[in-house]
Amino acid sequence: MTTAPSDPIEPIALETQEISKHFGAVRALDQLSVAIPKKGMTSIVGPNGSGKSTLINVLSGVLPLDGGIVIIDGLGLRVVKAHQTPSHGMTRSFQEVRLFDQISVWDNIMAVLTDRRLNPAMLERSRPRYKEKAKSILERVGMWEKRDSLAMDLSYGQRKLLEIGRAIALDVNIYLFDEPFAGLFPQMLERAKAIMNDLRDRGRTIILISHNMDIVRELPDHLVVLDSGALLAEGNVEEVLNSPEVIDAYLGT
Ligand SMILES: Nc1ncnc2c1ncn2[C@@H]1O[C@H](COP(=O)(O)OP(=O)(O)O)[C@@H](O)[C@H]1O
Ligand SMILES: [Mg+2]
Repeated sequence: MTTAPSDPIEPIALETQEISKHFGAVRALDQLSVAIPKKGMTSIVGPNGSGKSTLINVLSGVLPLDGGIVIIDGLGLRVVKAHQTPSHGMTRSFQEVRLFDQISVWDNIMAVLTDRRLNPAMLERSRPRYKEKAKSILERVGMWEKRDSLAMDLSYGQRKLLEIGRAIALDVNIYLFDEPFAGLFPQMLERAKAIMNDLRDRGRTIILISHNMDIVRELPDHLVVLDSGALLAEGNVEEVLNSPEVIDAYLGT
């Protein structure tokens, strides 16, 4: 079922048209067409293995599409290249964090800020500006005190927060987060939620994969439900969560 969008003329940040991704016989994405509104936060939910991470992986060019088109801010793409996603105004975090383990927390953020491929907008700026920005990011994710630690020496939760820090180091329009809250203790969870809310307040588009239904009821404005790589429902959070199809599929337990 597809519930009616809350506002039919809502501007779209990101859209897929019949995109597919197969792994052998597994149809991780099966001709999926979905539109993500520009305004606010959209959560992607669905059972384990329903294609949530694969969707973000193809949107961010980490995996090539087998078919279909991705439309980012009006630009239609059959091929999305990972290093070009910042120039499309998009950045992401990974479910399995991807840090540089052998370098410090500070350098993990600086590496993003000074990567000219990822951050062409910073090109003209001077080094003190990078440092200022790195400090403010580490403060936002609560990792300033840990700035000199090697990434490999961080706790699980600290690694997740640093991963979020690396994603928000880029100042773009669309942020994709794959299970950023998984395994976080309450204080860290609140911090991560505040970061998402702050991005939303600053008019960014946030796409959030989460299996935490308390958060899904609380945080997003829109919901997309995947099942076996296809769209099960989309629309207003309350309506979607109360739709019989969604309850039947997996929320009823
Ligand atoms: N790199 C991969 N190689 C093989 N199979 C994969 C790969 N990534 C995902 N899959 C399979 O694709 C399906 C969707 O996976 P995924 O997108 O990770 O689901 P979710 O994030 O919703 O749990 C699953 O059946 C998974 O086993
Ligand atoms: Mg996943």
